[in-house]
Amino acid sequence: MTVLALETSCDETAVAILRGRNGHSGSELLASEIASQIAEHEKYGGIVPEIASRNHLVQAPRLLERVARSAKIDMSNVDAFAATSGPGLASSLMIGASIAKGLATGFGKPYLAVNHLEGHLLSPFFSDGEVKPNVSLIVSGGHTMLIRVHGLAGYELIGRTVDDAAGEAFDKVAKMLGLGYPGGPEIEEHARDGDPARFNLPRSMLDSENFSFSGLKTAVRYLLPKLCVIPNERDGSRIRNVGHLGPKRDQKSSGRSFASPQDDSVILDDRVVDDLCASFQQAIVDILVRKAVAAAQKYDVDLVTVSGGVSCNQELRRQLGAACARKGFEFKSAEPWLCTDNAAMIAFAGSLRLQAGFESKVTEEIDPNLTLA
Ligand code: KG4
Ligand code: ZN
Repeated sequence: MTVLALETSCDETAVAILRGRNGHSGSELLASEIASQIAEHEKYGGIVPEIASRNHLVQAPRLLERVARSAKIDMSNVDAFAATSGPGLASSLMIGASIAKGLATGFGKPYLAVNHLEGHLLSPFFSDGEVKPNVSLIVSGGHTMLIRVHGLAGYELIGRTVDDAAGEAFDKVAKMLGLGYPGGPEIEEHARDGDPARFNLPRSMLDSENFSFSGLKTAVRYLLPKLCVIPNERDGSRIRNVGHLGPKRDQKSSGRSFASPQDDSVILDDRVVDDLCASFQQAIVDILVRKAVAAAQKYDVDLVTVSGGVSCNQELRRQLGAACARKGFEFKSAEPWLCTDNAAMIAFAGSLRLQAGFESKVTEEIDPNLTLA
């Protein structure tokens, strides 16, 4: 059973073809292509929906041709066409969904509307195919939630963020530090050389099933001006407010520039950047690990899964895996290439749904605010 899927929920155009195997023994990915639009949106400092949808319109037909060629398959031999139907940007979702509906109608095959979050949530099962009951932590740029998974399409919300998503916090803090977008991989890279215990950052709402990351982000914002090197305009020398932070370090020419509320040309020592990244990352990891393990204990499951872009983070994977092992839970995460947005996870969710007898109507609308549970 072959499923072609399109993912156009945000600023990535992705198309994949997957051959699902009946009998729960995994699936074979025949082709998967992603065209990122990061460069197009960078100069505007955020995603511009109009630019995103125009790019999807240009990229999607190219990627369709490319996946059909590399999968060596004729479109008429595809068994079903799937697309992300939400959540996401309305004008972007519409492009992928319209193409999938057109192909399904044209070839007389089923159409499958797939929830983007279900794509993430099922991705840890990609290589074995069987969805076992679990507590699922979804951590992406737009969402942070804990879901109790009973099986395919059986989802119950345990908790979610009340403000920023974990990935959003990574992106915002990276921006404050003058690092690139997306912020998660940049922060992880700097954190490798940093001291996670140097800055004591807040871990909010630890005893709740919900999450909050805006206090952590604000704590970093208020800390920054105290850590910076400030160029002195009068005599060209540099004054660095190191305060309680220990011995002075020499100014490095490679120090990071960032915008502070006091001065838009302040410089941050590279060592400070590394330590701050490590401390920030550890705060996020502590929160995620504690809540995921607490939920697994409360809901008495054997398995914890993690998915979404932030689950690429090696420290999160390592520490969550270790905490699960200590408490006797099995732990599963998708391979890193499946964690960030892609169409393979949508094709996988579509193929499981098709095998389970689900089908969507081509008259079904996209839903920018689609929920999972
Ligand atoms: O799942 P995803 O590709 O898109 C959404 O559905 O939002 O997630 C993107 C998010 C971004 O916020 C990005 O900074 C974060 O995932 N991310 C990471 C890492 N790689 C991507 N966060 C922390 N560490 C990483 N290595
Ligand atoms: Zn996503």
